[in-house]
Amino acid sequence: MTARYAVVGNPVGHSLSPRIHAAFAAAEGQDMRYDKLEPSVAGFEDAVAAFFSAGGSGLNVTVPFKEDAWRWVDAHDAAAAAAGAVNTILVRGGRTRGCNTDGIGLVRDIKVNLGWTLAGARTAILGAGGATRGIVKALQQSGVADLTVANRTRSKAELLGGEFGVGALGLDEIGGGWDVVVNATSAGLNGVGPLVAPQAAAGARCYDLLYAVDGRTPFCRWAAECGAWSVSDGLGMLVEQAAAAFRLWRGVTPQTAPVLRALRETAR
Ligand code: ATR
Repeated sequence: MTARYAVVGNPVGHSLSPRIHAAFAAAEGQDMRYDKLEPSVAGFEDAVAAFFSAGGSGLNVTVPFKEDAWRWVDAHDAAAAAAGAVNTILVRGGRTRGCNTDGIGLVRDIKVNLGWTLAGARTAILGAGGATRGIVKALQQSGVADLTVANRTRSKAELLGGEFGVGALGLDEIGGGWDVVVNATSAGLNGVGPLVAPQAAAGARCYDLLYAVDGRTPFCRWAAECGAWSVSDGLGMLVEQAAAAFRLWRGVTPQTAPVLRALRETAR
């Protein structure tokens, strides 16, 4: 029987996940279908319960439901437990398990696809919201140095820094000398001005969790203008977190490079 999966979010219309998973399934010969679910913001639980009662095998979870998903599942993997957020749900022995593949997806994209060194890299994360919570642990485990969370509202950075044992600063305090700077704020989609002074990006490898198929997000363009060593948007992370979810569901590791290349080509 064809196994059923879906991404649940609101809005979810522009999600690339169905395309990514269809490509993985075709390449790996997996009998599965993958749809989009868009419940109302208050309707997450009902929609997800109905999906699994109808025999669904697994879900990806995106904005704004990752925390709802964390509360809803029966159990968590270590990454989801640390993040307080779930991006992948699977069913095992009749129980739902919430996992978080965002951090591992980011680290794989940085190390394997981009070839940036994380071990010993002085690393700053901009933002202290849900997106940051999803990646801090994986970055810590990758061996970065001086991991610091910088946020517009400094008190939120301090709370998160205390919880994870990392540094905390205001965005206006981060200075320069970073090897890696990760933008995990939700700013940047609507043409807001620079988040931090140019010296933060100069000479650094700058990664934006947001993506654009042509790679040119506002943060990436800004960082390049500031003299960043290298810049990347988060499309590779999107593909890598999907691959990690696919592996959890299907037990096979799909190749990501052809899928990432195909997505980029749609921007040409
Ligand atoms: P997400 O789940 O995407 O991380 P969130 O939890 O609402 O969303 O967090 C948004 C993050 O982006 C926060 O760190 C927020 O900073 P504040 O805590 O100071 O609000 C940051 N952010 C959003 N808009 C911003 C802007 N224009 N400038 C700087 N930081 C911004």
